[in-house]
Amino acid sequence: MTRMSLVALNLVFILALVSCKTEPKEKDNTAAISIDSLLQLRYQKLLEYPLDSVGFPRSYTPETNKINKVPSKDWTSGFFPGNLWHLYQLTGMDAYKERAAEWTPFLEKEKFNDRTHDMGFKVFCSFGEGLKVQENEAYKKVIVESAQTLATRFNENVGSLRSWDFNRDIWEFPVIIDNMMNLELLFEATRISGDSTYHNMAVVHANTTLANHYREDGSTYHVVVYDTITGAVKDKVTHQGINDDSSWARGQAWGIYGYTMTYRYTRDPAYLERAKASAAFFLEHPNLREDGIPYWDFDDPKIPDAVRDVSAATIVASAFFELSTYDDDPKYLAYANKVLDNLMTPEYVLEAHVDAPFILDHSTGNWPKNDEMDEPIVYADYYFLEALLRQRQ
Ligand code: GLY
Repeated sequence: MTRMSLVALNLVFILALVSCKTEPKEKDNTAAISIDSLLQLRYQKLLEYPLDSVGFPRSYTPETNKINKVPSKDWTSGFFPGNLWHLYQLTGMDAYKERAAEWTPFLEKEKFNDRTHDMGFKVFCSFGEGLKVQENEAYKKVIVESAQTLATRFNENVGSLRSWDFNRDIWEFPVIIDNMMNLELLFEATRISGDSTYHNMAVVHANTTLANHYREDGSTYHVVVYDTITGAVKDKVTHQGINDDSSWARGQAWGIYGYTMTYRYTRDPAYLERAKASAAFFLEHPNLREDGIPYWDFDDPKIPDAVRDVSAATIVASAFFELSTYDDDPKYLAYANKVLDNLMTPEYVLEAHVDAPFILDHSTGNWPKNDEMDEPIVYADYYFLEALLRQRQ
């Protein structure tokens, strides 16, 4: 071999080495991320996020690198403090408890806000979660006062709490399936105060929803509109699904969680049957993705190119850990564990460099309004952390 060809060979060898070194490693989207790595990767960001009494982090838009913040009156405001309470329970680290206790009082004024049914989301996911880790008379008082306010939205003729106040010209008395989630606040207010009014109101609301919100196949309508004089159903429509007859994934999730939780407080088998039938619809749907994360609406014709909704998966996973304690069918635990395994991978956990106080990507907030599409949203994290806690328990 000539000296020249030897030099050339060496050069090729060196270039090969360099290219080996610099070639980016292909990202393995399915590699499991441990709980310890989650702490470093993401939990820390929630702790470090600066206190803001009027701006609760709700979602993050990667394209603009913007953290979307909301005031306490927004339905999602309670989730961020709730996430910190969850993180304290998961890690045992006092710093999370201290931070949660700093954020939570910013929501107290909502106990007098009678313009919304979202009292449970706001107050129960914050103050209520705080009560799970420590006795606190002031927190209990906030829960009972909030229940008093929420109760003003109950209509005897309809047998339900009014959900929204907008669209009054077309919706006389709208009730959305999401409203089932607010019943937990009422049940707890009765436990705390001994006043059965709240518990009884929650049961009537659950019965009315049971009678009118569900289809034969176990799926739920989003909005049912009632006549306030006769209590008759006037319309069954959607606000956040793709059409009135479709199955909006998060709506299905609220129903499954809502009836599982209502069974916990009442032991009425009708609620358990409702939760199980709706769970079957969800689990057996041919459009449910292999990894368990649903598309935002089961009936989007763009499937399989439709966006996903991680929040629907985390709500159902959390509900299924509870449902599995009431029913032996292994499919509930199987789904819940699968979802947590699949979420704890680089496909769903936000990368360390994303400087926003969220954990999971790929939720869809309001598709019809093209709002919060396929991005991190605070309530997906809330039910993810709750599911992790329930899995451990
Ligand atoms: N409760 C509103 C939603 O689920 O988007």
